[in-house]
Order: sequence, then structure tokens, then C-alpha cells
Amino acid sequence: MKRFFSLTVLVMAAVIAGGVLEAQARKPKIMILATGGTIAGAQTKPGEASYTAGTFSVANLIAAVPQLQDLAQVSGEQFANIASQDMNNAVWLKLAKRINQLLATPEVDGIVVTHGTDTMEETAYFLHLVVNSNKPVVVVGSMRPATAISPDGPLNLYNAVAVAADPQARGRGVFVVMDDKIFCGREVTKTNTTAVETFQPMNRGVQGAAYFGQNRWFEPPGQKHTTKSEFRVDQAEAMPRVDIVYAYANAPRDMVDALVAAGAKGIVLAGVGDGNSTEPVIAALSEAAKKGVIVVRASRVGHGLVRRNIEVNDDKLGFVTAEELNPSKARVLTLLSLMHTQDPKVVQQKFYEY
Ligand code: DGL
Repeated sequence: MKRFFSLTVLVMAAVIAGGVLEAQARKPKIMILATGGTIAGAQTKPGEASYTAGTFSVANLIAAVPQLQDLAQVSGEQFANIASQDMNNAVWLKLAKRINQLLATPEVDGIVVTHGTDTMEETAYFLHLVVNSNKPVVVVGSMRPATAISPDGPLNLYNAVAVAADPQARGRGVFVVMDDKIFCGREVTKTNTTAVETFQPMNRGVQGAAYFGQNRWFEPPGQKHTTKSEFRVDQAEAMPRVDIVYAYANAPRDMVDALVAAGAKGIVLAGVGDGNSTEPVIAALSEAAKKGVIVVRASRVGHGLVRRNIEVNDDKLGFVTAEELNPSKARVLTLLSLMHTQDPKVVQQKFYEY
């Protein structure tokens, strides 16, 4: 009788263990690539406003949210550990190549990139244009360090994994998930220095809403991205230099001349109003365009479109206009376009398509 009982318990344990393994095996496999930022940040002293970004490891981030295991089989890679104001082309290229390599394997169903919020909108748009897969890629961060009272990082990370694990997220490009919102990487911009609701759409709406692991989806993005994009960087070792000049009252031409002398292949104007600036700046940009520099007029105001030939004669001066893109995103599209063409007319067409 005793032997029969212990045999029954063994069989039951095996069935349960098998069920758990099978259930775990059914869960999507999500890789978290950590690059640093406030989501991994720690205050210098508890209660202090000051903090150091990129203090905690990806293992710490995953351990801090055990509920991730309910959503997916999660593993992590400490890809970099920088504050995102130090994000650079070398990390971008390495990140794009690693993401394309991982998503090309059947073992990985989606990717989450933890990242600082300062340049998150640039990295997300860059990946939106160069990731060659329909599988979900989600960029996530936080506005409060991990050691703060009510840190926003853990729930943002949970929602990001829930989006990366959601089959409905496929084919919608690269996302930013912050503050319960699902943004398209092209459409999102940081609008507040400290608020948790800092990320807002530039012109088009949000992609969806993330409710504690349940996602609601809205209209997919319109422009070309990921597998429909022509931009591939998997063989690239470097990218062209493109800089941004900020416009303001009384602005002189000096910055433009200095960037041309420094070898900029593209210059984006963060213009006042509808992408305008002072006559000296426009004259310097016109001379730069004549030298073959791609000049793109965008606006510092944050929302709305910059269209051709409104107050500036773009046709005459050989300029490109940024349409919906803000200056930092216009820089991303310009540097990728310059890997294909030096013709401003062809670059302008890409601003209509991406
Ligand atoms: N230093 C900023 C960065 O890494 C902190 C901002 C944040 O991550 O929220 O982007």
C-alpha cells in the first residue's frame, strides 16, 4: 500500500512538473537587452533627487519584477550601461546588428531594450528603420530611478515584456512603452524633463494601451518601417555625420560654417516656427547645400509639419523639409538616407515615405 502511494505521488509530481515545463515552453521567449538609463538608476542617497543612471544590471532589473515570468521566458543581456545622453552611433550599430541576429533565430519571439529616456525617441526611430523583422521590439525606460519612492520602471518593464510577447504586436514596427502607453518609435517624443507622462505623440496617435499586461491596440503606423524599410546597417561599420543647428532670434551663421568645416554631410535646422531662421543662417545653409551638404529644415516647436516652399524657397536653395519629423528624428532619417544617396530630391522622397 505504501509503495503504491509513493508511486502515485511520484507520477502526480511528474505530471505537474511536465505541465509546468510545457506551460513555460509555450510562453514566448523574450530577450531583454539593457543599455543603462534611469530605469537602472540609483539615488546617491535615499530620498535624494540626484541619482546615477545605469547602476543596476539587467539581472537586477529582471529579479525586481518576478511577475515577468508569468508573461514569458525572459532572459537578459547587459548590452551597454550608459546614460542615454551618451548614446552614440557605435552602440546604435551594435544594437541593431544584435537585434537582427537574435530575431533571425526561432528561439527569440521578441526583444525589449531598456534605455535612458533622453535619447530614447532617437534610438527607437533608428531601430524602427533598420530592424529587419516583424517580431516585436520594445524600447522602455523610466523617469524615476529604481530606488525612488514609487519607481515607474518596474511596471514599464512589465508592460514592455507584455507588448513584446503579444502576437498582435507583430508587424507594427518598433515601440516605445512608457506610462501605460504603447507608442510607435517614429511618433513619440519626450515633452517634460521629469514627469512620468513625459512621452507623447508628435502628430499621429498612440499605437495602443498597456493595462498591467493586457494590451489594447489602435491603428497601426502608416509609414514604411522594419521589413518594408530599405535601410540596412548589418554590414555598416560607420554612419555619416549629421548635425543639428538650433535656431533663435539673432542667430549668426557661425555654427553652420563650423559644422561644414568639421565635415558634416548633413545639417538639420531646428528652426523657429515653420522651420525658419535668420537670413545669415539661411545664407550659410544655402552655401552648404551648394557644397553638397544635405540641408533639412525641421522645427524646434515639437508638433506640426514643415512643408516645402512656405516662407523659404526650398526648390531654389536645394533644401529638404522634414514633414512630420522633429529635428532629432529628421537627423536619424538623414544619416540613413546619406548611406544611399547624396541627392536632396531623393532624400526628400524618403521624408515622404518613412
Ligand atoms: N540620463 C538620462 C538618460 O539616461 C536619464 C533619463 C532617464 O533615463 O529617464 O537618458
